[in-house]
Amino acid sequence: MSIKFDVRTSPQAWTQAAADIVCQTVRDNERPVLVLPTGGTPVPMYAELVRRYRAGEISFQKVTSFNLDEYVGLERSHPESYYSFMHRNFFDAVDVPAENIHLPDGRSAHPDEACAAYNAMLDEVGAVDLAVLGIGHNGHIGFNEPGADPAGRTHCETLSLQTRQANARFFEDDLDKVPTHALTMGLGDILKAKKILLLANGEAKAAIIRKAFQGPVTREVPCSLLQNHPNVVVLLDEGAASLLEKA
Ligand code: F6R
Repeated sequence: MSIKFDVRTSPQAWTQAAADIVCQTVRDNERPVLVLPTGGTPVPMYAELVRRYRAGEISFQKVTSFNLDEYVGLERSHPESYYSFMHRNFFDAVDVPAENIHLPDGRSAHPDEACAAYNAMLDEVGAVDLAVLGIGHNGHIGFNEPGADPAGRTHCETLSLQTRQANARFFEDDLDKVPTHALTMGLGDILKAKKILLLANGEAKAAIIRKAFQGPVTREVPCSLLQNHPNVVVLLDEGAASLLEKA
């Protein structure tokens, strides 16, 4: 197993470490290809990347990005669409060329066609240099819920009740407003990335972090599949690391 745990003791150090890995990938590759997450966890990382861009420390002009997922049925202009999230937190403030930004099209009347189109774009770009991931309380990565196909590609996933409850905080705590489906890159797509950065913080993630990285590899805990990947950094704060057994 080549998982590298990196446990940081302050939010600032955690954020710097996340931004460092993204910037290193951007600098090391002529045409860097990134897979990017949404959710609460990466927000400070995006803020730090924006800060570095504004300070002239980094440019994202050569970057091609693919977001992990998008809700089905939300207009792009909806404040909680992942399209809105990414533009608000990152793309509007940096220099990633608009034509290099990709998110699955959750508004399509034909989700299968939207997924096929996304897969075609992924195939065209070739290798992903870095996939940045969060983790759901049930071990999902992207929106690959427990049981998802380990070799799967971009597809439409039914969100579990637990996932929808966790995300209700972004929808005025109204479960009825949380979409029931999302388009997500598949586990097969994610696992093909050359490098993976898994982000988690807070004690609420401690149990799933332990299960994912110190429990058996099983499709019931999608994140556990990362144990078979050759190049994974798991960046945690002390809360998220608190149930890990010391090696
Ligand atoms: C979001 C995504 C999800 C989240 C996960 C954790 O693009 O792919 O897997 O990373 O649900 O979300 P937060 O960070 O809100 O706890």
